[in-house]
Amino acid sequence: MSTLGVSFADASLEARVTAGVDEVERQLGTAVESPTRLVAEAASHLLNAGGKRFRPLLVVLAAEFGDPARPEVARSAVVVELTHLATLYHDDVMDEAAIRRGAPSANSRWGNSVAILVGDFLFAQASDLVSDLGPDAVRIQARTFSRLVQGQIRETVGPGDGEDALAHYLGVVADKTGSLIATAARFGAMMAGAPADVQQTLTEFGERIGAAFQLADDVIDVASETGQSGKTPGTDLREGVPTLPTLIALRSTDPEGERLRALLSKPLTDDAEHAEALTLLRAHPALDEARSYVQAEADAASALLATLPDSPARAALQELCDTVATRLG
Ligand code: IPE
Ligand code: IPE
Ligand code: MG
Ligand code: MG
Repeated sequence: MSTLGVSFADASLEARVTAGVDEVERQLGTAVESPTRLVAEAASHLLNAGGKRFRPLLVVLAAEFGDPARPEVARSAVVVELTHLATLYHDDVMDEAAIRRGAPSANSRWGNSVAILVGDFLFAQASDLVSDLGPDAVRIQARTFSRLVQGQIRETVGPGDGEDALAHYLGVVADKTGSLIATAARFGAMMAGAPADVQQTLTEFGERIGAAFQLADDVIDVASETGQSGKTPGTDLREGVPTLPTLIALRSTDPEGERLRALLSKPLTDDAEHAEALTLLRAHPALDEARSYVQAEADAASALLATLPDSPARAALQELCDTVATRLG
């Protein structure tokens, strides 16, 4: 059903999930409307360009552990996806990215000011909607966004003196991406009225699968061809953002990797050096090591599901873990 390619062994689960994500889609369309023409145009731009809707799917699946028909479930999924969408507008400004979801990024089309303000608008729309879900949801949303922003800032600043680069990176990944995906799973369970221990397990699961999802994305940034991910490959390298494959390569000591390690020690703004580094990294064992690391993280996420009641929804979440690990390109 989605571009994540999760298939459902259970037809009634599939029907409910499809209805759930359709409802989320309808509400997302309404949420990006604005009487200001440029805002309406720029805010709907990335929504309509595509996207995997990984977070809404997670909300809807987590809701299966309670009553998935409660209207708060879809509402909370809209809040999460709008928050995610807002961060994409801002992230593309920070990363100077030209392509997003296979379309021109908002910053490349309308400039940084519009991209930043439209991101703010989307976040405001999310805040408006979450206020219908009660003070606990508002607080969770606020703290999630706070963690996400701090993760983005720590990525920009880089590791402190004496801080291990890989540990810093994993902390950044947890905060910038794990935080919101954890909240997606948490909201689904919470809004559906699932038992407290199930909410807790699903939150931990979301955190773990969310980190694996970002690690996979960082491998894809190196391994994918243009067009495959809807983004420009090699963006992290160009921006000098260290990620799992580059950090592993930088730790390697093989003589063949010497030139690669020299290139990776600075931002790669020169086109020829950037292309050279990308080619060398794709051929280096670090890339497969990074893939194995992601697979292990996805397996660890899947293992967290063991305490949940055995159900078609649990099987679908397990499959989601496999999908995250196998979309590695
Ligand atoms: C992109 O998120 C940013 C990351 C956290 C890796 P997604 O990969 O979910 O982007 P869309 O929503 O499918 O475009
Ligand atoms: C995205 O990080 C994280 C957030 C938007 C919070 P990236 O910069 O790695 O994501 P992409 O690769 O541009 O989607
Ligand atoms: Mg970024
Ligand atoms: Mg980016």
